[in-house]
Amino acid sequence: MANRAIIVQPGGGYDKVVVGERAAGIPQAGEITVRLQANSLNYHDFAVVSGMWGPVEPRIPMADGAGEVVAVGPEVGEFAVGDRVVSTFFPTWQAGAAPVEGFATVPGDGVDGYARELVTAPVAAFTRAPRGWSHAEASTLTTAGLTAWRALMADGALKPGDTVLVQGTGGVSIFALQFAKMAGATVIATSSSDAKLERLRALGADYTLNYRSTPAWGAAAREMTGGRGVDHVVEVGGPATLEQSMNAARVGGHISLIGILTGLGGELSIVTALIKQLRLQGVLVGNRAQQQDMIRAIDANGMHPVIDRCFPLEQMVEAFRYQESNRHFGKICLEM
Ligand SMILES: NC(=O)c1ccc[n+]([C@@H]2O[C@H](COP(=O)([O-])OP(=O)(O)OC[C@H]3O[C@@H](n4cnc5c(N)ncnc54)[C@H](OP(=O)(O)O)[C@@H]3O)[C@@H](O)[C@H]2O)c1
Repeated sequence: MANRAIIVQPGGGYDKVVVGERAAGIPQAGEITVRLQANSLNYHDFAVVSGMWGPVEPRIPMADGAGEVVAVGPEVGEFAVGDRVVSTFFPTWQAGAAPVEGFATVPGDGVDGYARELVTAPVAAFTRAPRGWSHAEASTLTTAGLTAWRALMADGALKPGDTVLVQGTGGVSIFALQFAKMAGATVIATSSSDAKLERLRALGADYTLNYRSTPAWGAAAREMTGGRGVDHVVEVGGPATLEQSMNAARVGGHISLIGILTGLGGELSIVTALIKQLRLQGVLVGNRAQQQDMIRAIDANGMHPVIDRCFPLEQMVEAFRYQESNRHFGKICLEM
């Protein structure tokens, strides 16, 4: 079966994004064929498409894909035709400790992704989607949703009553806010925009801080906890935010090192980490079992993701330009 696909030519760059065709095979044992309906955008996909980390060979981009099963191969018990599914970031990481390093096995980077109409893939490349979610909504889970879930629930072992600090209003941070509230935590949220802080409060943030007008927001967050400090920081800023995150954390607090919004490396106050006995955990999305846990929790709680805007698949470049503008609140999606 030939099908429409967006292909990024070697090296990447917005001028190297073309519409082409890629065949989808008949599903063999343990495989399913999925008719994709939506993708969601992440910084990692931007890096591939824009040429920052361009592909070495023609590549179908986008790690996040959601759609419907249209054929199942022999020995597939988990899925049936008509099931709504969402892709997994690491099809080769089922559960437990990570057997993967980097992006060689990740769809849309080391292997072809989901900016296409049809794909035939092993069962492990997908899980069931949440009940009652649109395909665009489901597509937000693969990267941003699972990263936030793993940081707080798996690595953080979040408990009701814990305090969580989330930074900015991107996809990961808003999911972290929603999961933290779902679990009965107190949330302190930051943004550069007072209008966005208002929207964070509407989503359940208990306390908000403008990180531009309050540069020492770490100490301010600590005060909001009565001086104890926050239990978990969902660190997406990187070098320019880590010091404040460490100031905000309680003794023995947990900081998930997730994002690189302000750069790839910088100084770390080892002495602060030692004195406060902080737990700094690097995070690279998560595994398939964690994705299934997350979806079970979503089904039980009836939450929905925050989607800022959807673009047609062919307008992928415009969608990434919009992401670069930082005007969004939550996720940006593509629909077929
Ligand atoms: N390690 C992983 O597994 C993993 C997975 C997913 C994403 N990430 C990374 O996590 C980061 C966030 O991803 P995303 O998809 O959520 O991004 P996004 O949707 O593009 O988030 C952009 C938002 O981040 C906020 N921001 C920018 N600079 C900030 C700063 N100095 N302090 C606080 N907030 C700041 C801004 O919020 P305001 O406009 O409200 O200020 C901006 O709108 C990226 O670096 C991405 O590469 C890592």
